[in-house]
Amino acid sequence: MPMESVRIVEVGPRDGLQNERRNVPTASKLELIERLANAGLRDIEVTSFVSPKWVPQMADQVEVMRGLPRHAGVNYSVLTPNLKGFEAAVEEGATEVAVFAAASEGFSQKNINCSIDESIERFIPVFKAASKTGVKVRGYLSCVVACPFDGQIAPQNVADVARRLYELGCYEVSLGDTIGTGTPDSVLRMLEEVARGIPVEQLAGHFHDTYGMAIANVHASYGFGVRVFDSSVAGLGGCPYAKGATGNVATEDLVYLLHGLGAHTGVDLEALVDCGAWISAELNRDNGARVGRAILSKRSPATTY
Ligand code: HMG
Ligand code: MG
Repeated sequence: MPMESVRIVEVGPRDGLQNERRNVPTASKLELIERLANAGLRDIEVTSFVSPKWVPQMADQVEVMRGLPRHAGVNYSVLTPNLKGFEAAVEEGATEVAVFAAASEGFSQKNINCSIDESIERFIPVFKAASKTGVKVRGYLSCVVACPFDGQIAPQNVADVARRLYELGCYEVSLGDTIGTGTPDSVLRMLEEVARGIPVEQLAGHFHDTYGMAIANVHASYGFGVRVFDSSVAGLGGCPYAKGATGNVATEDLVYLLHGLGAHTGVDLEALVDCGAWISAELNRDNGARVGRAILSKRSPATTY
């Protein structure tokens, strides 16, 4: 049987750092991106072109774009909530952007200050401009299982908004369990509904680990046929508009699972573990990757993490 390939979208520099309390110097962000690329990550989300009043940690987006290391074969993407963000991103050389909507009205209002319908209206000029300039557009959908404001979300609602994003021109829709309450069962119920309107090849899984279910949800989604997953090195992150939500599934844990399933990721796990240890020390935070901690403690058994 041919080896399965999985595309990993590393979102640590964006999803991971957008919620960091400490000020993260631009130089540290750029070094993180360099280390991720050196570890074999080929899709890295590097920053957001959002309002600095809403997300101060991403206020250095222009400096990040200007300092990006040039690596053949590495695809950098950025978040853009509207045409203003899109134009600023393209001005700085972005070739791939991501728009972000929510499956719940409550999260849409809190995160981007508009209803779901209004957000879709705002994306239309982004898609028009993107198709003129050849920029790829990815779509995120938040709260695909539950919303911190509206509670459980019906799979049908998720499928409706996901299909709208897809039909507008997203080459891929990343399904976000923003608050990490999903379980394999609830994730599969949602996926079944979404996959009625979008081919599974065009779906990605974006699991936050608040309840420790992220890796189980990846495994269930992989079994369903999903072959693209978003993750953050060292499990960095959270969402400024989802109180209590923790980081994404750690890239180290994701890679370990996928390699254990016999899938190809192109990532050098040892180099990735070094990167996770480095950024955790840089931010003075615990390393959120269980695989990272285990490999580090095997290297120097006297060290406890
Ligand atoms: P608004 O206040 O409704 O916007 O915010 P507005 O159009 O009324 O403009 C207000 C001000 O913002 C103006 O400036 C605009 O120029 C400025 P002022 O005149 O007051 O000085 N502005 C911008 N500035 C920079 N970049 C822009 C931009 N647009 C307007 N693109 C807005 C609406 C969408 C801008 C705001 O709500 C926002 O920036 N939200 C971003 C929130 C965010 O980044 N959240 C985290 C990312 S999503 C996420 O993490 C979930 C995900 O990981 C998946 C998952 O886990 O679920 C993707
Ligand atoms: Mg997220």
